[in-house]
Amino acid sequence: MPAVVPVGRLAAGPQPVLVLTGGLELRPWRLDDADADALHTAGRDPAISHWNLFTVGSRAEARARIERLHARRRDETGVIWAVAPRGGAAVGLAGLNDVDLAGGTAEVVYWVLPEARGGGLAVAATRRLVRWALSDLGLHRLVLCHSTANPASCRVAEKAGFTFEGTQRSALLHADGWHDQHLHARVAGDPE
Ligand SMILES: CC(C)(COP(=O)(O)OP(=O)(O)OC[C@H]1O[C@@H](n2cnc3c(N)ncnc32)[C@H](O)[C@@H]1OP(=O)(O)O)[C@@H](O)C(=O)NCCC(=O)NCCS
Repeated sequence: MPAVVPVGRLAAGPQPVLVLTGGLELRPWRLDDADADALHTAGRDPAISHWNLFTVGSRAEARARIERLHARRRDETGVIWAVAPRGGAAVGLAGLNDVDLAGGTAEVVYWVLPEARGGGLAVAATRRLVRWALSDLGLHRLVLCHSTANPASCRVAEKAGFTFEGTQRSALLHADGWHDQHLHARVAGDPE
């Protein structure tokens, strides 16, 4: 079987900037103080550290994490954007983890800083990156998973056009123990 997406396509060229409405965009994470501080803040937010399973102890650790994000695109195992106002610091993150170019699959991930929540940012960012992943990169299937105790994430999945495919039992280990998770997916050709 030929690869669904040829090896090398994700790492080729610079990471694109994906424009959103309202002066916002998805753009690569920067190694500057503003983005490092945004990531550090996210790592201390109780909801983000709980649901996205990460903590960031310092600005230096945040920079190292940003470097690893870029390395993952070079390795073609992930591609992660900052969600930000044009010219401003990151207020959220959206992207693809567990990219399998040969198999044509990836997992969508996101978070939004508390002050930027509730305005449709996660839905807009997810829709935009899904369009890029399926139409431009050429992946076939994207999954989106969240704990059943995280209804906000479920709503984002539904509004971004992901079909609910079922509940996986005891599938996610969070700080408070094992959680059941919802599996949602978008497949190439699904309606937006
Ligand atoms: C989940 C998260 C990314 C949503 O970001 P956001 O930019 O506020 O999302 P949006 O504004 O695009 O949409 C959120 C939707 O969820 C709904 N929502 C928010 N809290 C909710 C709750 N507790 N129960 C049900 N729905 C909820 C909102 O009303 C909105 O739906 P609506 O537009 O139909 O009213 C953000 O809350 C977050 O970062 N949470 C902490 C980390 C996290 O959960 N990450 C995802 C891990 S899978």
